[in-house]
Amino acid sequence: MRKKIIAGNWKMHKTVREAEELVGSILKGLPETHYEVVVCPPFTALYRISQLLEGSRLKLGAQNMHYEIQGAFTGEISAPMLKELGVEYIILGHSERRHIFGESDEMISKKLRRAVETGLKPVLCVGEKLEERERGLTEKVIERQLVSALEGLSREDLDDLVVAYEPVWAIGTGKNATPEQAQEVHAFIRSKLSELLGEEFADSRTILYGGSVKPHNIYELTKEEDVDGALVGGASLSAESFLGIIEKAHK
Ligand code: 13P
Repeated sequence: MRKKIIAGNWKMHKTVREAEELVGSILKGLPETHYEVVVCPPFTALYRISQLLEGSRLKLGAQNMHYEIQGAFTGEISAPMLKELGVEYIILGHSERRHIFGESDEMISKKLRRAVETGLKPVLCVGEKLEERERGLTEKVIERQLVSALEGLSREDLDDLVVAYEPVWAIGTGKNATPEQAQEVHAFIRSKLSELLGEEFADSRTILYGGSVKPHNIYELTKEEDVDGALVGGASLSAESFLGIIEKAHK
């Protein structure tokens, strides 16, 4: 069976103190679930949160990293720095990185290589903008993002790869993709992965949906065959809604 994941991407929210409080409440209320539950706090809170998560079922992720190990890259954070803190997952190619900070497919591909080499589990985000969807380019955009990120990497390299489909028009807008829209793209992603790396690899891949996931829509989304969980933004910032999502996800 494929691994199921619910991950919270906190983006640029929560001071260390606020992060401690949120994680404390999540740990207290964490239900029995077969989903792996992951929190991705901002860099500044990772050290402290890593300590709090020791021995718990909650896993730690980070939101971005540089592709070099070290060097003169003011303001950047490297994969070994994250690994040392006990970070397990790394979000790569988030649409906010692509579209606000100008990350190219090439940069994301370099980051993915470094993550794999460092033993971080990559959560590769792909997704189309509204105008791309309206012009019928959704599959083309996602294929380009996938092919360029995975180029030159083997099935073994990508053993821990997680893909997240995050349509840009659904992020932070309150307008989630319908379960049918999500399923359609997830199935496309799986078929592309099968073409690129084989059917067995594709069948075992966890593909998350992200974009306005809330307690009230998680069930219908995760009921879909190819939706293996969610990458949650806004609703991961309160324990009540994040735990609500975990509880209501399709079992
Ligand atoms: P929202 O859940 O706030 O729409 O954000 C989704 C997202 O970007 C997760 O990475």
